[in-house]
Amino acid sequence: MIELADRFGRVATDLRVSLTDRCNLRCTYCMPEEGLAWLPREEQLTDDEVGRLVRIGVTQLGITEVRFTGGEPLLRRGLLGIVRAAAALSPRPRLMLTTNGIGLERLAAPLRDAGLDRVNVSLDTLDPERFRALSRRDRLPDVLRGLAASAAAGLTPVKINTVLMRGINDDEAPALLRFALAHGYQLRIIEQMPLDAQHRWDRHSMVTAEEILATLEPFNLQADPVSRGTAPAETWLVPGHLDAAGEPARVGVIGSVTRPFCGDCDRTRLTADGQIRNCLFATDESDLRKLLRTGAPDQEIAEAWQIAMRGKRAGHGIDDPSFLQPARPMSAIGG
Ligand code: GTP
Ligand code: 5AD
Ligand code: SF4
Repeated sequence: MIELADRFGRVATDLRVSLTDRCNLRCTYCMPEEGLAWLPREEQLTDDEVGRLVRIGVTQLGITEVRFTGGEPLLRRGLLGIVRAAAALSPRPRLMLTTNGIGLERLAAPLRDAGLDRVNVSLDTLDPERFRALSRRDRLPDVLRGLAASAAAGLTPVKINTVLMRGINDDEAPALLRFALAHGYQLRIIEQMPLDAQHRWDRHSMVTAEEILATLEPFNLQADPVSRGTAPAETWLVPGHLDAAGEPARVGVIGSVTRPFCGDCDRTRLTADGQIRNCLFATDESDLRKLLRTGAPDQEIAEAWQIAMRGKRAGHGIDDPSFLQPARPMSAIGG
């Protein structure tokens, strides 16, 4: 077994696989109304190619956790087969999915049967009008039904990812937390990062971790005794509430910009077109698709992947004057 180690002593064990760059929502902070120039089909990895790279990651490179993302991964036709193949690997990786929740109502139980362990669902507002304005689609009920179906299928703990935006939904953290507590979901509130397709991110419209915590003051949050490890979310206990498993309820804050966790990062990313990115904010990528399609043996692919990770920078550098937003937006990189 070779490790995916970088020059700073970090070892990647968490593989995030983007299965498509397409999405059925148009969140204003992510992509424009008309969508983006989607990857041509022939550039996208086939299900078998994804399966092969996941197998190499798990059996040769020490990957223990695989998260499927997008765009919207539920739009990927072969999703159940891809999950099934990953679940059949030995050692079996933990399998997760990050989704906008549309279609989960139908897919939650089949995904669990295929071997999925957990889901994280994006939800920025509980107000149907706001949801429509924010995502440019009238789909809030689908997302709520998707959340319920995930919990019923045992894809737990079901986590909710919320991006707060100033003047748009920054008053909703308490309502979202009450909703999550009532249903046994774990809410995580996220600082917006400069990864939008339109390159409109600005520091002042980002709601900071500190501001998020101030709006949650009425809940009297307590320090979480469980160590955070390599997770991006800092978590707090919510006194007086239990989660669906009867554990103390938690709420998380993902302060990627003001409280970066780059020093503990254990991630490696595979894009839908077969590129390895050693960081969300990497400015270059390593082409494994080309190796796959020119008949390279597993060993050569594993070595190329390892070399790609050695070039990982110490941090995202958003605060550096020379910071450049990556050319590809989050929907194409994978969340
Ligand atoms: P859990 O294992 O359930 O905690 O998942 P996760 O939080 O790692 O994954 P998820 O896909 O739900 O991501 C939640 C948010 O974390 C994303 O919206 C991003 O804002 C942030 N995030 C995920 N990966 C990275 C990363 O590599 N770097 C940074 N800076 N932020 C990330
Ligand atoms: N910054 C932070 N989070 C983002 N997401 C999408 N764009 C951004 C951004 N610029 C979130 C989505 C989803 C997760 C995959 O990433 O809301 O929950
Ligand atoms: Fe789709 Fe996620 Fe982007 Fe919204 S944030 S448009 S759900 S990829």
